[in-house]
Amino acid sequence: MAAIDKMRNSNDSISQIAKILRDQNQPLTERFRALFTLRNLGGKKAINAIAGIFSDPSALLKHELAYCLGQMQDDYAVSILTEVLQDENQEVIVRHEAGEALGAIGSLSSIEVLKKYENSDIRDLADTCQLAIQRIKWLHGSDRHKKNLSKNPYNSIDPAPPSECQDLGKLEKMLLDENLPMYNRYRAMFSLRNMQTDKACRILAKGFKSSSALFRHEIAYVLGQLQNPIVAKELMATVENEDEDPMVRHECAEALGAMGTAECNDFLAKYLTDKERIVRESCIVALDISESTDQFQYANTLSKVTSVSA
Ligand SMILES: [Fe+2]
Ligand SMILES: [Fe+2]
Repeated sequence: MAAIDKMRNSNDSISQIAKILRDQNQPLTERFRALFTLRNLGGKKAINAIAGIFSDPSALLKHELAYCLGQMQDDYAVSILTEVLQDENQEVIVRHEAGEALGAIGSLSSIEVLKKYENSDIRDLADTCQLAIQRIKWLHGSDRHKKNLSKNPYNSIDPAPPSECQDLGKLEKMLLDENLPMYNRYRAMFSLRNMQTDKACRILAKGFKSSSALFRHEIAYVLGQLQNPIVAKELMATVENEDEDPMVRHECAEALGAMGTAECNDFLAKYLTDKERIVRESCIVALDISESTDQFQYANTLSKVTSVSA
């Protein structure tokens, strides 16, 4: 196939996938699959397609749009995310994810807008922006080349690098010390995650006692990456707790979906009618993800649209 035909073809596919993402009549699961497919494809057209959905009524979908834009690591998304971060009509979870995504892209030019919110009255937003500023500074500083940092075994751009410390006891202390800056606690969190041991998982789960909802939701996120069912009980207890922040309950539901055991799935099915929309929707998506054996099978909208148009 000539290069130009190939390009036309892929542009056409992106349009078709974008149509599914945009369509509020599509099941949420199909829209999420479309989103992850666009994220994997990358490029300006995919980014524009994702950016066009920030007026959707689903905060879950919108926060995932921002998350994906950050993970795509493309400077082209910076202006879009800057706008979302500043949009007071967006839910805090969406603005948080936009701030975090700016940190993930890591452009020095984002520091100015992040500074605008580093002392915000909205604690989760202030903490997010402080973390993002510190990550960007770290990324552009010489500490980045320190050799003793553990490797992230997952395919994610994290809001903070791992700690230079490798000592389990010290990492636990740092993780749970409410007086330490959030950045240091996050660094301990990612070091513990990178260890991928049962012990480290159990320590991480102690983080659910933290006073910060942002911190608790990140704990749930890394436990979802670890997929270790020994902490399923703690995740379930957090979903069950209706006094918990919906952002945390949502992340716990997704973590349980990532574990994919029959017990986790039965549990999630009970929350498909939860009174919080973001929790209900998380369970729908989590159960869909748990049915897929891998990420590529999950982000399968490209194969669907190409087989329809073939
Ligand atoms: Fe988040
Ligand atoms: Fe989330």
